[in-house]
Amino acid sequence: MAARSLASIVPTHRLLEGGGFPVRRPAALGRLTDPFLLLDEMGPVDWAPGEAIGAPAHPHRGFETVTYLLEGRICHSDSAGNSGELGPGDVQWMTAGRGVIHSELPTPEFLESGGVMHGFQIWVNLPAKDKMMEPRYQDIPADEIPVAESDDGLVRARVVAGECLGVSAVIETVIPIVYIHLTIQPGGSLVQPLDEGLNGIIYCFGGELNVEDGSVSDGQMAILSEGDSVAISVAEDADGAAEALLLAGEPLGEPIARYGPFVMNTEEELRQAFTDYQSGNFA
Ligand code: FE2
Repeated sequence: MAARSLASIVPTHRLLEGGGFPVRRPAALGRLTDPFLLLDEMGPVDWAPGEAIGAPAHPHRGFETVTYLLEGRICHSDSAGNSGELGPGDVQWMTAGRGVIHSELPTPEFLESGGVMHGFQIWVNLPAKDKMMEPRYQDIPADEIPVAESDDGLVRARVVAGECLGVSAVIETVIPIVYIHLTIQPGGSLVQPLDEGLNGIIYCFGGELNVEDGSVSDGQMAILSEGDSVAISVAEDADGAAEALLLAGEPLGEPIARYGPFVMNTEEELRQAFTDYQSGNFA
């Protein structure tokens, strides 16, 4: 197998998103991270009672939003009447397709009590032929997300999409996607196959990981070079476990016309998205 190494390290910056919640976001994703359009680490933020903020009603068209919550509680509802709640460890894989208008807010109980909110939202692009597909939700509770563990118990993997250590995800993706939450204790290591041709990313959100000849630490995103596997490890004398998302996906290589919550292929389609949204002919 040809092991992948670190092609580049992308720093992250902090900003306010939605109604004003703090996120950590790697500098612009592009061709090397295709099909991933956005990666936001939401928080962690410790809200005082009555202060938690989310994203009030907003539209999406042409891609997927994947929300993975680690702490806190979010409720979502959309214009088609779908609604639900996400708690720690839950995943929502929402395929916006031709359009949804939804809100993503702290639950009333969480808003009242306050507490720590922490999670991820990533945006996965859809191929041109699927951009106008029917919207689809896959709401997977924490206890249905498969977990894999290495024989020595030092690597724990929550398999949101793809496969790890012989364990397969339950979520269906439109194009081949790998989405794994890795927790690696000091001295732990993993060799993960990643099909040749997929773009691969590691986002570290705690501790430090080694990949081939380099390292990725808290708040950094690494773009992986070509290859068919990646070897990830944590030094034996590390202070604590490393936490990371390992993402890989098949690059679409298609033109992108993007504005805010709409990601299409042409300016014409983008204008159409605005027209449809403004005329209420959406979702
Ligand atoms: Fe959204």
